[in-house]
Amino acid sequence: MKDAVIGIIGGTGGMGRWFARLLRKEGYKVHVCGRKTRLKISDLAGSCNVIVVAVPIAATAEVIRQVGPLMSADSLLMDLTSLKKEPVELMLSCSRAEIIGCHPLFGPQLSDVRGQNVVLCPARGDKWLSWLKVILERKGLIVIEKAPEEHDEMMAIVQVLNHLNTISFGLALAAAGIDLTEINKLSTPIFQTKMEIVKKVFTENPGLYTDIIAQNPAAMNMLDLYEKALADIRALVNSGDGTQLKEAMEQAAKKLF
Ligand SMILES: NC(=O)c1ccc[n+]([C@@H]2O[C@H](COP(=O)([O-])OP(=O)(O)OC[C@H]3O[C@@H](n4cnc5c(N)ncnc54)[C@H](OP(=O)(O)O)[C@@H]3O)[C@@H](O)[C@H]2O)c1
Repeated sequence: MKDAVIGIIGGTGGMGRWFARLLRKEGYKVHVCGRKTRLKISDLAGSCNVIVVAVPIAATAEVIRQVGPLMSADSLLMDLTSLKKEPVELMLSCSRAEIIGCHPLFGPQLSDVRGQNVVLCPARGDKWLSWLKVILERKGLIVIEKAPEEHDEMMAIVQVLNHLNTISFGLALAAAGIDLTEINKLSTPIFQTKMEIVKKVFTENPGLYTDIIAQNPAAMNMLDLYEKALADIRALVNSGDGTQLKEAMEQAAKKLF
């Protein structure tokens, strides 16, 4: 695959730029486009045999519909979207190309990705799969192959439940009307760590997190679980001195660890 020429749609943004840098370091020619670049999606499709879709989740379907039909059967169409079922199905139905769904389980700010996980959902063909795996593994990434549905189910926990927790903490904190400077003077290490996560989610790219929640079909189930957990905590705290809450936590710990 030495002749691979890669086009990254969304290659001017966070993950697209990260992937472009990685591939250029491997010696490949990489072209990028966004909505404002001189190169357009059709230019990339005309000159590249690998197309990577790395646009925001809400724009992914529209971009796949545009680029998919322009690609030949011996080329590769892949995406970096945080959800996999809908993009992979759409890539399969819109294009004759080989198809791989890809989800790096980290953000573009991470300077050293060694030891981090990346999920691949190979969906059509195997000519490009080993090429991609070798590149990712050479960077020290741990490649995990999963079916798109299974990936999205797991992301309901790893991302949806996780970010719901961060968002509810941040919203409650804002509603409490506290002076953060005063609170920070008394902060504990755990509080500082939590505040760093809240700051990242609320200020760096809030649209990414809201898309990850809103577009996952299991989001409502996770909200139900979360609401029930909060209602249970309220009832347990109300009912006494905290002993029952401690018992509930001990039971959960037995299940979890
Ligand atoms: N950030 C993360 O932590 C992370 C981690 C793993 C996976 N992902 C996935 O990576 C993808 C990109 O996320 P990101 O955080 O990198 O987003 P981002 O920083 O906002 O970058 C999005 C890119 O897409 C371009 N773009 C937006 N709408 C477009 C359209 N309609 N047509 C063509 N280009 C368009 C943007 O350029 P213009 O605005 O100039 O058009 C930009 O280059 C998402 O699917 C996300 O789920 C993100």
